[in-house]
Amino acid sequence: MKEKEIKAIVSKMTLEQKAAYTTGKNGWQTKDYPEIGVKPMWMSDGPNGLRKQIDLANTVKSTAFPTACAVAASFNPELAFEEGQAIGEICQAENVQMILGPGVCIKRSPLCGRNFEYYSEDPFLAGKMGTGYVKGVHKAGVGVSLKHYLCNSQETRRMTSSSEVDERTLREIYLPAFEMVVKEAQPDTLMASYNKINGTYATANKYFMTDVLRNEWGYKGAVVSDWGATHDRVGAIKAGTDLTMECQDRTNNEIVEAVKNGTLDVKLLDKCCENVLALATKTLDAHKEGATFDYDKGHQIAKKIEEESIVLLKNDGVLPLKDNKKIAIIGDLAYEMKIGGGGSAAVQSTHVVSVVDALKDKKNVTCCHGYETLAVKVNPELKEEALKNAKEADVAVLFVGQYTVMESEGYDRWDMKLPAVQIDLIQAIKAVQPHLVIVIENGSPLEMPWIDLPEAVLDMYFGGEGAGEAIADVLFGKVNPSGHLPESFPLRLEDNPSYLSFVGEGDIVHYQEGVFVGYRYYETKKAKVLFPFGYGLSYTDFLYSDLKLSSKSFKAGDEIKASVKVKNVGKREGKALVQLYVGVGFNDTDFLRPVRELKGFEKVNLKPGEEKEVEFTLNKRSFACYDVKAKDWKVAGGDYQIQIGKDAHEIVLSAPLHVINEDIPGAREKVTYGTVICDIEKIPEAHPFIDKAIAIMGQVVEKMGLGGDKKTREAMMDIMPKKNTGIEVQILSTLVMLTQGAIKPEEWDEFIKMLNNRK
Ligand code: BGC
Repeated sequence: MKEKEIKAIVSKMTLEQKAAYTTGKNGWQTKDYPEIGVKPMWMSDGPNGLRKQIDLANTVKSTAFPTACAVAASFNPELAFEEGQAIGEICQAENVQMILGPGVCIKRSPLCGRNFEYYSEDPFLAGKMGTGYVKGVHKAGVGVSLKHYLCNSQETRRMTSSSEVDERTLREIYLPAFEMVVKEAQPDTLMASYNKINGTYATANKYFMTDVLRNEWGYKGAVVSDWGATHDRVGAIKAGTDLTMECQDRTNNEIVEAVKNGTLDVKLLDKCCENVLALATKTLDAHKEGATFDYDKGHQIAKKIEEESIVLLKNDGVLPLKDNKKIAIIGDLAYEMKIGGGGSAAVQSTHVVSVVDALKDKKNVTCCHGYETLAVKVNPELKEEALKNAKEADVAVLFVGQYTVMESEGYDRWDMKLPAVQIDLIQAIKAVQPHLVIVIENGSPLEMPWIDLPEAVLDMYFGGEGAGEAIADVLFGKVNPSGHLPESFPLRLEDNPSYLSFVGEGDIVHYQEGVFVGYRYYETKKAKVLFPFGYGLSYTDFLYSDLKLSSKSFKAGDEIKASVKVKNVGKREGKALVQLYVGVGFNDTDFLRPVRELKGFEKVNLKPGEEKEVEFTLNKRSFACYDVKAKDWKVAGGDYQIQIGKDAHEIVLSAPLHVINEDIPGAREKVTYGTVICDIEKIPEAHPFIDKAIAIMGQVVEKMGLGGDKKTREAMMDIMPKKNTGIEVQILSTLVMLTQGAIKPEEWDEFIKMLNNRK
């Protein structure tokens, strides 16, 4: 339907109808006014499958796909696309017009209860995966709701807390994944989160819902509140939150009154109605009446995605398992696998295949429970059986994970530990069976003080309904693992940069680590982690070579290409992940910034001996920081490194790149006698005069004997970093003083005037 027709229909609504149209008909639908042709649209939960709740007792069964934390580990946006498309097709078959997902919130702390619903601690990876998912759902003609916008990084007091985040951190860490999905995939809706951002509820936050989202990023869709997140209906409309969910008819009158008494411009109300109607019309028009979905196909897609998402964390050679060996599969979690987390994202699967089911025809495999997932005490009979099986086998494979209830919407985890019962079993099995493999089912990182005991460790995250078959194929080598961690695994919870301020004081949560989230902190701090971001092993080996840049220097506005070769030098076919980081020296006083940041990645399949070249294109945003003074992205000049990493820590290739300084506000501000010299030096036009003055100063200082003897001074110049030392930290008037009248006062005045008048 055209914009004109939408407007025409909205103009036919009464004021009361308009007010009512900005909230749901019920928990899952928009309103309908049949007399003017307005039909209801149905929306249901995702993101890792369809959770269509018919009523309190009935939820439609659907394919449970791997959760976002798993899909992200594939580092393959095409798989996110496939998942999105399949979910879209399921929505078509179930007459759902919009799926409530994906979630691209940044994982600030490993404890956030909803981490399993989110992709990564890195905005670039989260943005790419989210974009893939949204494009996939769209391909099926279904709408999405990108959530939870914004800074919804914890469940504790999620409905009242205020995420206190500085502007630069917002722009560089918490906004970019949303920005990327908005710009690259134009999602139909964004879901305004429960929390406040810097004191204002997201739903009433005009800065984020309108100024940034629509005016800066060019967003054309609608904004939907999270369920029950609107506290002020009029404020929401003014901010740009178009639809308040669920049904809040009891407050419609506030809107009607506000229009009548002139405190709400009816045009803003009209705009919200138009946005909701455009959404409903678009998605209803794309509905395919009579569509069906083949759930066997859904299951196969779920399995395929999980195969690429399993991360091999350790392997002393015991994996893949050999068919002629006796294998003991142990663990309650091998029978009842954790395929997803709890809360609104808990999909009722059509058919889960556990690893025990998947291996039931293998004669060389025994299975037993070993422990009870929810128990706090060891069950001696189960333990005894496990030890017997382990001892009699050639290899023991133990499935572990946190209590099922621990990872869910509504609360945060309280630690990163495995239950004591499971740790006890790891130790006991190791004592009777040296060949021990641990398989982890998790939504977030775990501490692993026991890491030295097993010979191999696989992390399968919450892998959806095909997880059992996928892990069976990885264990026995039918599938070569190629997942990589989309988040850092700290050694201890206390090492995480948000540790001191998570979950805040009362309702105030200061994001005091700033831009140093996840690996940005660990790498800059040179802090040891258990496994770095991007880490993942394979049953084969890859060699990276020939990193080439299309230019030796870069300036804002350019594009630069980086190419690198990757070769499979092992004996098995496998998928290599090429990760590109932009590395900078930390010593940059324009922006305190992480030593490296992910700016490109690509996964390539390689046969043994095969080599492929991968090319990345870098642009201004690959190098820029958000300059709060300029309210814009700015590139700081200096010597950068383009790095190819096996992960965020192990950089295997590096190429230098000189980046030309963009006009940074420090240098743009009015120059006075109180301006610091290092800022003046950023202005190319200042160089001849300043260099002359510094040379004169050098002679004066030498005569005065201020800087010690000549030899010491020369040696110091060699060893000291060139920037921000000596005279560079002084202000202009110090230089005037130290040139002892050799430059006339009028000349200085003229110099300052010239700098301030330049274009
Ligand atoms: C959750 C949303 C979800 C909605 C509807 C809320 O509590 O935060 O993610 O989509 O409920 O179930």
